[in-house]
Amino acid sequence: MLLPLSAVLLLLLFPAASVAAGQEKGAAPERAGQPAVDFDPVRGDDNTADWDTPWGPLSQYDRNLLINVRWANLWEGPTSEQMAQRSTNPKVKAVAEQLSKEHHVLDVMVAETVAKLGVPLPDSPTPLQQSWIDEILGKSGSAADDAWSNITREAHGSIFMSIAQVRTATQNDLMREFAQIANEYVLRHMTLLESTGLVRASSLYVGSTDGAPHQIMPSWRELVLGIALACLVVVLTFLAVRMGARYEPRTAAE
Ligand SMILES: [Fe+2]
Repeated sequence: MLLPLSAVLLLLLFPAASVAAGQEKGAAPERAGQPAVDFDPVRGDDNTADWDTPWGPLSQYDRNLLINVRWANLWEGPTSEQMAQRSTNPKVKAVAEQLSKEHHVLDVMVAETVAKLGVPLPDSPTPLQQSWIDEILGKSGSAADDAWSNITREAHGSIFMSIAQVRTATQNDLMREFAQIANEYVLRHMTLLESTGLVRASSLYVGSTDGAPHQIMPSWRELVLGIALACLVVVLTFLAVRMGARYEPRTAAE
């Protein structure tokens, strides 16, 4: 009794743990072998089932990496191309030109990979990415250089985490190869963007890809409060169990 209640409490206090637990349960692969997917226009593939492929199981994380790289290509390629033409900053111009070219190459790589795996891809940027495009191209001169460098660098931080996850854990040989190459591209792009000298420290964190507020670490006060609440509920549960054990129901003879 004590253990399940504690587990429920921890899951309530730490939602990330409940997500992980849900994924561990892992619904049966309803779509195994059926490469059709419920495609969320913002979050990508939210189906947790693995697909069977000749290269090994294709997980939700694998599929979402392909989708997210495609989304990155859709906004970053054209925006960088525009910046390469517009900017008068030599560093920005050179980096934007390289990023634009490399996202064309990445897009070919994504297309070749999904042609084998059957993963459907988006054909337009997310609303958030469209807002980035509008913000960057709505500015001019050094303001545009600054916006492009910082927004693009921040976006790379998010996808870099997805790539690392797939590169580390995928069971699909094709995706391992894809993640390896994509990792090299994204790492290079982050380094190039930082070489412009325009990237501020506030752009060096992992941003949200869906427009939700950035996930921040809890403060010490919140951590202590969470731990104290967890301990309190554990103690109360223990006391309730002890009191329940002392209670002796009256027999019918009484
Ligand atoms: Fe990039």
